[in-house]
Amino acid sequence: MNAKQLIGTVNSLVANFKGLLAMDESNPTCNKRFAKLGIPETVEARRAYRDLIVTTPGLSESISGAILCDETIRQQTHDGTPFAKALADVGIIPGIKVDAGTKEMALHPGEKITEGLDGLRERLAEYSRMGARFAKWRAVITIGDDLPSRGCIEANAHALARYAAVCQATGIVPVVEPEVLMDGTHSLARCAQVTEEVLRAVFQQLYNQRVELAGMLLKPNMILPGLDCPEQPSADEVSDATVNCLMRSVPAAVAGIAFLSGGQSAELASARLNAMNIRFGSRAPWPLSFSFARAIQQPAMEIWLGNQANVEAAQFALLHRANCNRAARQGDYSALLESKRLEPVGGQR
Ligand code: 13P
Repeated sequence: MNAKQLIGTVNSLVANFKGLLAMDESNPTCNKRFAKLGIPETVEARRAYRDLIVTTPGLSESISGAILCDETIRQQTHDGTPFAKALADVGIIPGIKVDAGTKEMALHPGEKITEGLDGLRERLAEYSRMGARFAKWRAVITIGDDLPSRGCIEANAHALARYAAVCQATGIVPVVEPEVLMDGTHSLARCAQVTEEVLRAVFQQLYNQRVELAGMLLKPNMILPGLDCPEQPSADEVSDATVNCLMRSVPAAVAGIAFLSGGQSAELASARLNAMNIRFGSRAPWPLSFSFARAIQQPAMEIWLGNQANVEAAQFALLHRANCNRAARQGDYSALLESKRLEPVGGQR
């Protein structure tokens, strides 16, 4: 393992208050989001959408790395530049999602296991040749009456650690994503309890597999009540529950925390990240950053609608969310900033 190379990459991913843009939705997930907006579910529509994102002027001022999926890393921008090169050319580090998605977990009704370890070393070598310098693997944990089970937590933690070790052996920074889902009626306290148990299991497995913590990023969920829980907390409550949970379960040696958004609104995700950085920015042992997909992309996708004429306006919306989240990393996000969104010169939507 070349620890110096890994640490160099990971430090660039968290430097200058920038964060990650997850644009690695699987084809079925991307198609589902397109279908809701009447966008054609085609290879070309997915390429055109990713083209819009990658060629957004100024994106690299707030985004340090972008996570691609297998289809996208093999595609090009409208002028024929491979997406990974187009990103690297503007100073955004290309990353790649390497898990093969989730399957029903055998003998564990209602739970999922993430697959993709077979052939991982060879796939990573190919992605590395294509320019990827970091990778992502997502495990999902469901909260329910008797869920999650210990078997599901341990199997997913083990797979995450095996993936992370293979990444580091290949010179690729692993982004370790154990996502406790927001679906359900559970309370904020229950999310905290489950997330702490999951993170402790993940770090035990990472330790067993000899993963260098200074050469990885953790991509956790924020501590939130279920989407159908009647009590919804303030940004400060989310901030305190989240950072306290991480302090109890994540070693200080980890290079950075890059939260997923998980279905929160774009504004709430920024406000909650902002609260964490105001209240804990100087005390937390790790940078508190972001690796959002929906909370950066959704407004832009809703403007684009598959129409070339809307590209510029969609890019402004994307850039705005990226900038808001960079501000949130510094505790500088505010409602005023939301209202200061730039618009294309002379063009209204
Ligand atoms: P969201 O921010 O939309 O949750 O996506 C993050 C991600 O990369 C999921 O794996």
